[in-house]
Amino acid sequence: SSVRVFAPATVANVVCGFDILGFAVEAPGDEVLMRRTHKPGVTIRRITGDEGRLPLEASRNTVSASVEFLLQHLGREEVGLEIELHKHMPIGSGLGSSAASTVAGLVAANELLGSPLKPLQLLPFAMQGEELACGSGHADNVAPALLGGFVLIRSYKPLDVVRLPFPTELHCAIVYPAVHVPTRDARQLIRSKVLLKDAVTQWGNVAGLVSGLFLNDLGLIGRSMQDVLIEPVRAMLIPDFYRLRELAHEEGAIGFGISGSGPSVFAFAPDEHRAAAITARLRQHLLSLGINSLGYVSAI
Ligand code: HSE
Repeated sequence: SSVRVFAPATVANVVCGFDILGFAVEAPGDEVLMRRTHKPGVTIRRITGDEGRLPLEASRNTVSASVEFLLQHLGREEVGLEIELHKHMPIGSGLGSSAASTVAGLVAANELLGSPLKPLQLLPFAMQGEELACGSGHADNVAPALLGGFVLIRSYKPLDVVRLPFPTELHCAIVYPAVHVPTRDARQLIRSKVLLKDAVTQWGNVAGLVSGLFLNDLGLIGRSMQDVLIEPVRAMLIPDFYRLRELAHEEGAIGFGISGSGPSVFAFAPDEHRAAAITARLRQHLLSLGINSLGYVSAI
């Protein structure tokens, strides 16, 4: 028997919610094709769309490694699983590329085993996959990739995950400038201490953003999408970040910021048409700087 599972790209942090907020888009996403075999153990048969960059060795690949964690937990190490991974988004892009693959793999394995776990119970294994991929087991990509929509990680210890509502008209423009920013490096830049006055600004914004999602208040959502802690440091990894922000706002963006750890940037727009205009404008500007890019427009 075999299954095919799709898991979406995700935007982590959502500007002010470093490591605690994330949402899934409808597309792009990665696909895992998995089948049971007679030979025990997890093997990767084929990976496409990664330009040969991902390891095929089962213990080093986040998809197979997280499935191995799952099999160990369930005491099902006798099971044989063979994986084909089809990547449809760039690696190291800030779009939750490793999270999408890992989640697709875990959902596929769980299904082939007769669904012993509920989706939320797969989260700790997906976080172990993230730890392997970038040295940190954050959940703000894997949780929305697994559950869909907007997700808050209220606490890591113990894990407390909350699905948030969001305005249905909300669309997302995403632009990936083709420069490489590994999450591991982008995390090392961040200072570990913050000033109280900055913390006050930040938690005001997080509360404002979450309130805006509940109240369907696009203005409040936009006003709250400010980050005084992480963005000032990471902005330098992204070509002409502040100009991109101005251009997004000129095209009617509700809010703009770095997607995950970058270099992708994203903006919220009140409809698909405006999201497409933002994507086009940002890509045109990057091209004028000699930087190739990919652009996506999606509902949430
Ligand atoms: N919250 C994580 C970070 C997301 O910003 O490092 C990584 O995609």
